Amino acid sequence: MERGPWPRAMAARWLLLLLLGPALQVHAQLDSSDFISIDCGLPETSTGFTDNVTKLSYVPDTGFTDAGTNHNISAEYVTASLPMNWHTLRSFSGDRDARSCYTVGDLVSDLKYLIRAMFMYGNYDNLNRLPIFDLYLGVNYWQTVNISATDEMMIYEIISIISDGHVQVCLVDTGSGTPFISSLDLRPLKNNLYPQSDESQGLVLSDRRNFGASDSVIVRYPDDPYDRIWMPLLSKTAEWSVISTDNIVENRSNSFEAPSAVMQTAVMPTDPSSAFGFIWNAQPSAKNHMPGYVCMVYLAELQHLPRNTVRQFNIYLNGELGYSGGYTPSYLFTDVIYSDKPFYSSHPYNISMNATKTSTLPPIMNAAEIFSVVSTTGTATIAQEVAAITAVRDTYKVKKNWMGDPCAPKKYAWDGLRCKYFESSPPSVTGLNLSSSGLSGNVSFSFANLKGLQYLDLSSNNLTGSIPEILSQLSLLTLLDFTGNQLSGSIPSELLKRTRDDSLIIKYDNNPNLCTNRDSCQPAQKNSRSMVAVYVVGTVVAVLLIVLLLVLLLFLRRRMHGTTSNIITMGNKAIIAPSHAQSSSGHSSLRLDNRRFTYNELETITNSFQRVIGRGGFGKVYHGFLQDGTQVAVKLRSESSDQGVQEFLAEAQTLAKIHHKNLVSLIGYCKEREYMALVYEYMPEGALHQHLGGSTNNGKTLTWRQRLRIALESAQGLEYLHKGCNPPLIHRDVKTSNILLNANLEAKIADFGLLKAFNRGNDTHVSTARVVGTYGYLAPEYLATFQLTNKSDVFSFGVVLLEIVTGQPHILNGPEPTSIVQWVRQRLAHGNIEAVVDSRMRGDHDINSVWKVADTALKCTTQAPEQRPTMTDLVAQLQECLELEVARGYTNAGFYTTRNGDDMSTNVSQRTFEIDHLGRVPTMSTGPALR
Ligand SMILES: *[C@@H]1O[C@H](CO)[C@@H](O)[C@H](O)[C@H]1NC(C)=O
Ligand SMILES: *[C@@H]1O[C@H](CO)[C@@H](O)[C@H](O)[C@H]1NC(C)=O
Ligand SMILES: *[C@@H]1O[C@H](CO)[C@@H](O)[C@H](O)[C@H]1NC(C)=O
Ligand SMILES: *[C@@H]1O[C@H](CO)[C@@H](O)[C@H](O)[C@H]1NC(C)=O
Ligand SMILES: *[C@@H]1O[C@H](CO)[C@@H](O)[C@H](O)[C@H]1NC(C)=O
Ligand SMILES: *[C@@H]1O[C@H](CO)[C@@H](O)[C@H](O)[C@H]1NC(C)=O
Repeated sequence: MERGPWPRAMAARWLLLLLLGPALQVHAQLDSSDFISIDCGLPETSTGFTDNVTKLSYVPDTGFTDAGTNHNISAEYVTASLPMNWHTLRSFSGDRDARSCYTVGDLVSDLKYLIRAMFMYGNYDNLNRLPIFDLYLGVNYWQTVNISATDEMMIYEIISIISDGHVQVCLVDTGSGTPFISSLDLRPLKNNLYPQSDESQGLVLSDRRNFGASDSVIVRYPDDPYDRIWMPLLSKTAEWSVISTDNIVENRSNSFEAPSAVMQTAVMPTDPSSAFGFIWNAQPSAKNHMPGYVCMVYLAELQHLPRNTVRQFNIYLNGELGYSGGYTPSYLFTDVIYSDKPFYSSHPYNISMNATKTSTLPPIMNAAEIFSVVSTTGTATIAQEVAAITAVRDTYKVKKNWMGDPCAPKKYAWDGLRCKYFESSPPSVTGLNLSSSGLSGNVSFSFANLKGLQYLDLSSNNLTGSIPEILSQLSLLTLLDFTGNQLSGSIPSELLKRTRDDSLIIKYDNNPNLCTNRDSCQPAQKNSRSMVAVYVVGTVVAVLLIVLLLVLLLFLRRRMHGTTSNIITMGNKAIIAPSHAQSSSGHSSLRLDNRRFTYNELETITNSFQRVIGRGGFGKVYHGFLQDGTQVAVKLRSESSDQGVQEFLAEAQTLAKIHHKNLVSLIGYCKEREYMALVYEYMPEGALHQHLGGSTNNGKTLTWRQRLRIALESAQGLEYLHKGCNPPLIHRDVKTSNILLNANLEAKIADFGLLKAFNRGNDTHVSTARVVGTYGYLAPEYLATFQLTNKSDVFSFGVVLLEIVTGQPHILNGPEPTSIVQWVRQRLAHGNIEAVVDSRMRGDHDINSVWKVADTALKCTTQAPEQRPTMTDLVAQLQECLELEVARGYTNAGFYTTRNGDDMSTNVSQRTFEIDHLGRVPTMSTGPALR
């Protein structure tokens, strides 16, 4: 991805993770039985081995991949101390752009993993040719592997969340040598470790160093329960001296957990007044031109300091101050200074420290980690289709390079597959050509799970058995080619029906045993002339019957539909071809505004109402896909619904007319017999209600800025109803469960079933026959008098704002249920904003903007409607609050950059060490001792 000059506004912050008091929770001992260690290239017959030093068990790679060939590294590189897992490797010779993958399943879904791929060339092929190839994690580019020496043990590592219980590590041949791999490790982490790695971003290891360790000491499992590999950095030099302790150094910050063995050594500058630190260079690659970096510096005091001594220092990254006011490490407790967002720089990065004026001791540092960030937002093919096509591959032992994700990335899509790609939803398989692929056995039912399939070519194989009826579930199918197989039985009637509909062409020539006429099930005639002669009478009768039947059908269809078909006679059998080649394509674009769906279509869209994503008084909401792959939410009215037919229709009619980016948009509706349904755009992040309750996003809390933006956007949606519509509309059911969020957490108001138009004329209110809405959100005057104004929505919106600030539900369960309005009023009466602010935001917010929102919310919820602000006022005020919050970020960035970075870098350069190659273990043929 090309990046311009790095955006200042998004400058990363330096955070200091101080001890948070006693550990928040006691964690069960991490079990190394959850580790997966694969030694690639071991013979299939091997049962694996246990590593002498780490005592971890390695398994052979059979079963994780079915491609490639096994090799031993050349004998001259096998030393007594070289751990076993480096002795063998698997190589994947293929063409340029060929992708070879390892698939590891049975992982914990949505858990963060450390994934480590290891490579040692060792001249296994006697060619002495060092390859360069690409590494992918699933569909996302991870890193380019550049094997730069024959005897180097190279380690590439990524930390990423694994979303669906399995992961693929793929090697892509980029035309610069044969990809190979020596071993592959997977280590489960905890999701709160390395917070910079999330659903959309992975951390690629650049370096992980243990300062002050002796040259031969490598710390990993069991000293590090996560089996991170901590390499020593040049222990002693003239400029650096080492301090160490035998005492345990505790980590109480749960975000990084550096092991005590690493923290027990540290370095400091020999000259106490000098600055010191380290630098590294960005490592751009063809696929990541300007990688961003995050860095963690681990600090702990190791000396028990006498009373009159002070160790206090400042920490800078590229001249930006990391911790103001001077930092003093804690005795035998680990602190971490880290950047929460990536830094981008085209110059070398440097971390430097200098003692403050009051300090009597030089700065120290114990360990550091540097990562570049990679995006992990590439979307894999629809999971159900991956399962289906994989089953097809495995059933027929398809001999094609079918590895990794079937459709993504586009460049590496499987041979014979046609895929459709969408902006924000997963790609889908639309065509499959398995012609002449040596398939034998029955026609797999798995084809029926490729729901987006339009074209299926199974011609010229040895398929036997009958054509499964289940293929008729492929509603988009337009061409089905079985020509040249050994199929028997008859063509399922549902499919035949579709051929008559002009929506499907079936080719089944050269299937000697296939019965093409349901009524008199004779095998289809063979091509051979002599056979024709033998069966001439039967053939003539059969052909006549077919023709007669077709003519009859045609006649009936004409009468019924007034459409035409052409009958083309080819060879000895009839094919019904659509009269207008494009006639069915009109169906495939469902994206007409407010289109009307049939109930059958809804069944297809929702896969027979399989996945329920919501429930309400009206019935259930189902997830579905349109034919073009667009995700939708289908709200089906149940017969027992409280929501009347009128309300349902009112919603459809109103929504058809109003469009605003902060209102959920209606795609279509269905009204057929007793069935009524509305089809909306799908909002993948669900309701605000769920986020505030912490039940989504892995329980991750919305930040204050995200909350403000959601509040502002919801307000804009409501303002549009109140001001932008003619007649103005009152929503009547504003609540956090009716504010939905899309993938970018943009808010849209939903559920317009209770929408009410103001009467025209000069009325300022409407009266309703009964109170509707949700208790706890209802304005007092509406409850009392049934009088509805747009200020009733403002009241409800005030309640929403209070929930946003406090993270509490609108009715608090206590000994006595209390409304949130009362609860906040009581607490704020004492001027104590902290007592109401959602503590899960950890104080990371501008206090003024929180006050302002809370204050505004209380104005919205005053008893007298006329004292409440209008939605227009609210939009303006929320806008201001958001600006305050955003400005807070700018202030920090501005403050940091006022430092004179240039001067410092010259000061620092003499005292810093360049951390040399990234992600590489220095040559270790001399035999490092693993701890
Ligand atoms: C690797 O070496 C082992 C033992 O030295 C041998 O049994 C095995 O066949 C070799 N593998 C290959 C692929 O050459
Ligand atoms: C590991 O231990 C076994 C048995 O003690 C020994 O035969 C082998 O050479 C050792 N391997 C290494 C790499 O030290
Ligand atoms: C691979 O590494 C060598 C030296 O280590 C370097 O000269 C070369 O540019 C690198 N190639 C790529 C494609 O990164
Ligand atoms: C960090 O501290 C916690 C709590 O004391 C402990 O459970 C965990 O094992 C420690 N982690 C490391 C890497 O030592
Ligand atoms: C079908 O199988 C037979 C023998 O089993 C083989 O001779 C023939 O080539 C196969 N046909 C195709 C199209 O694969
Ligand atoms: C530390 O370095 C910064 C940046 O160069 C400089 O502004 C500051 O004066 C230095 N502090 C001391 C005590 O030398």
